[in-house]
Amino acid sequence: MKFFVDTAEVREIRSLAEAGFVDGVTTNPSLIAKSGRPMAEVIREICSITPGPVSAEVTATEYEPILAEGRYLRDLAPNVAVKVPLTEAGLRACRTLSGEGTMVNVTLCFSPAQALLAAKAGATFISPFVGRLDDIATDGMRLIEDIVKIYRNYPHLKTEVLVASIRHPGHLVAAAKLGAEVATLPPAVIRQLLQHPLTDRGLEAFLADWRKTGQSIL
Ligand code: E4P
Repeated sequence: MKFFVDTAEVREIRSLAEAGFVDGVTTNPSLIAKSGRPMAEVIREICSITPGPVSAEVTATEYEPILAEGRYLRDLAPNVAVKVPLTEAGLRACRTLSGEGTMVNVTLCFSPAQALLAAKAGATFISPFVGRLDDIATDGMRLIEDIVKIYRNYPHLKTEVLVASIRHPGHLVAAAKLGAEVATLPPAVIRQLLQHPLTDRGLEAFLADWRKTGQSIL
């Protein structure tokens, strides 16, 4: 399973990449706004940190303007994946951009039928938002299960399931069990994946015993 980092904070991405946890990055207009930096500058910088796909989202809503923004964004770096909304215009632009060899991430997916349409439009990634479904008392992980199952029924569809809106490690583990290809995780959730109280307690005990020996390895 590939791990993408869901942030536009370059410092966080750099530190997680150094630890080997980053296969790609996703951003959205809210995350770019939070970074307080010009979008083109921040996307170029992120693309130089990771060779994996870096999603940069269009803000236009009509076909031609989506296409124009998408072409501008993909020209920022070779590893940009243009993110388009799951609308009729977005899927039409997805088809065109994919036909030009551009990676496309179709975002704001909340139903299996939407995911099927995105795959038929040639999306590289489909982004179903599990956390936002959970927020409205609907089982987000059920959506992942349905999409994975549907895509497996049609092996000619090459779209990867990119689980988005992840809020905690449980989401990641459930998505991995279902066989989703990618998960995009906020930096704090990636760090949570490392944590287990028995790891901390075990390490403390080993080191305490080691100190008693008076030895040092080097
Ligand atoms: C990623 O591509 C999405 O934009 C992101 O995961 C949304 O997460 P949120 O629902 O926590 O804003």
